[in-house]
Parts: sequence; structure tokens; C-alpha cells
Amino acid sequence: MATEVWRVNALEPEPHLMKRAGDILRRGGLVAFPTETVYGLGANALDAEAVARIFEAKGRPASNPVIVHVADFAQMKPLVEDWLPAVSLGVEFWPGPLTLVMRKAACIPDIVTAGGPTVAVRVPSHPVALALLRAAGVPIAAPSANRSTCLSPTRAEHVLNGLDGRIDLLLDGGPAYGGLESTVVDVSTVPATILRPGLISRVQIESMLGPITERAKTDEIARSPGMMERHYSPRTPLFLTTDARVVVERLRQAGERVAWLAFGDDGPDAIAMPTDPAAYASQLYEVLHRLDAAGFNSIVVALPPVGEEWMAVHDRLKRASS
Ligand code: TXA
Ligand code: MG
Repeated sequence: MATEVWRVNALEPEPHLMKRAGDILRRGGLVAFPTETVYGLGANALDAEAVARIFEAKGRPASNPVIVHVADFAQMKPLVEDWLPAVSLGVEFWPGPLTLVMRKAACIPDIVTAGGPTVAVRVPSHPVALALLRAAGVPIAAPSANRSTCLSPTRAEHVLNGLDGRIDLLLDGGPAYGGLESTVVDVSTVPATILRPGLISRVQIESMLGPITERAKTDEIARSPGMMERHYSPRTPLFLTTDARVVVERLRQAGERVAWLAFGDDGPDAIAMPTDPAAYASQLYEVLHRLDAAGFNSIVVALPPVGEEWMAVHDRLKRASS
């Protein structure tokens, strides 16, 4: 299959292109598109055969359910058994980088939820994602647009590197500016549970719901299979350390070609990562994709500070290094 690539205006997507992309989705095709977090690989969420093509293209295990994207509350209601649990967080953070897990309605094919009783839903805020949802007129099942276990794509070229020839269409809307995946919160239980940290922080979630108890780690993995340890990884081995300078020097003395991600400016032989968590998140995958292509033997990353606002970055760095 030849993959078509269309450049689209990120702020005001061209209506005729969105219409044609929506037609491809309604006919059962696969369309990759930018969101405000990372690029997604979309298919009509109500068409089990189309969703099966996502799993095939990504090499994704059937045990890992996918997120269903909708344009608004109205499009969400028929997909879930009870939409009230989504109201408080949805009203506050949608459209935006938050995914809510709810009990699914019968119209959701089993393949979308990996056979489970819940479905994950989100309203993305990227203008191209919203325009595509409106043009398609169907909910769009979309995991990140990378081969399974690889780094999520934040640019069109990252999508092509993994999926060229495996999908029908790629909408190139420039960089996905958030840079890390959405926060996943299970609101099908009381109290709610954060299944994956992301761009919306625990503090923001708790400001709406009150305190949320931690769930045992093993339990979390069973409930959100995408949280399995090895995930979001560059191909180059990545070491996470509080003493990057020493580790880098040792490796370089041993003749290794080492890339060094410093926290802030740490001299000319280090890549200065931002000291602001949102800016760090926005650049992380982009930098890792670049280093992966550059052929280093290893990547050494200085551990960012501990703290609530660094949760999502820490989570992805740990997974990248495991
Ligand atoms: O930012 C994002 O969320 C991006 C963009 C494209 O929207 N999507 C994304 O999808 O990261 P994916 O498939 O790479 O990650 C989805 C995560 C996985 O950890 C999966 O296990 C979890 O959501 N998930 C999906 N459905 C679920 C369900 N019914 N219950 C629990 N976890 C679920
Ligand atoms: Mg993914």
C-alpha cells in the first residue's frame, strides 16, 4: 500500500482535505493525524475490521485497548453506558490531553477495548484532529502512530519512519506540540484512578475530584496494558542518572559515542533540556528520535527533579530506560 502524505494547515485545516480524509476513514482506511500530544493512527472506532488494521500496522498486541477520540460530549454519549462520571473532568479539561475510561456501550467493538468492559475516550484540542472528527462524523480509534513499543511520534517524519507503506494517509500538520501522551484516568471506579500520568497533572485532576488513592502497580498494569514496562523506548540504550557528567565521562573513556541530555545548560558537549516541565515534555521525544537516527551507542539522561509536575516526564524516561 502506498501511503499518501498531505500537508495541512495546523491552525485552519483545509476543509476539502479534511472531507477527503474523513471519507477514507468512513470507508475503513487508516489515517495518521496530529493531536496536541503526539500523532495518532486513526480508524473508524465503530468498524471492527478497520480497527484490526491499526493493530496490524503497528504490530500491537490485541491485549492492549485503544483510545476512542470524539469531537464533543454529544459524540461520546452513545459510546458509554453512563457518561456522568466524565462530566466534571471533561468539562474542565476537554478538549485537551486527558483520556477518561468509562463503562462501554454495546456499539463499541470488542477489539477496541481488548475485550474489556470499559472504553477510553478523549476529546483532542488540536484543530486538525477536531476538524477530522467533524468531517468523518464517526468516533476515531487512535493509538499513537508508531510501531508497537517504539517511541511515540511528534512529527510527520517520525510517523513515516515507522508506518510508511502500512497506512493509507498521513496528515502532516507540523509538530505535535505537547510532546507526551495524554493522562489516562479511570472514572469507572470510585475513587477514580490515574492509569497513566500525562500532560494533565495529578494536582489538576485532584482539584476537580478531591484526593485520589494510589492503586497497586501490578493492578494498574492489568487495568491498562499500555503501561507495561518496556514501552516508549528509543532503539539506543538510555541511562537515567543523577550524576550524568561522571557516567558520560566513563562511557566516553571506554570509547563509546555518547549523547548527553543535561537538565538545563551543562556545557558545550551536552544537550541542554528545558528546566520547565511542559517545555521538557514538548521536546523529549523529538530529541530522542533525532539521537536514535544519529547512531550514538548510548544516551545518558540527567534525572529531572522529583516533584508532581515532573511525574509524566519521569514516567516516560523510566520506561525508555528499562
Ligand atoms: O495522547 C494520547 O493519548 C495519544 C493520542 C494519539 O491521543 N494516544 C495514545 O494512545 O497514547 P496509545 O494507544 O499509545 O495509549 C493508550 C493507553 C494505553 O496505555 C492503553 O492501555 C490505555 O490507554 N487504554 C486504552 N483503553 C483502555 C481501557 N479501556 N482501560 C484502561 N486503559 C486503556
Ligand atoms: Mg502508544
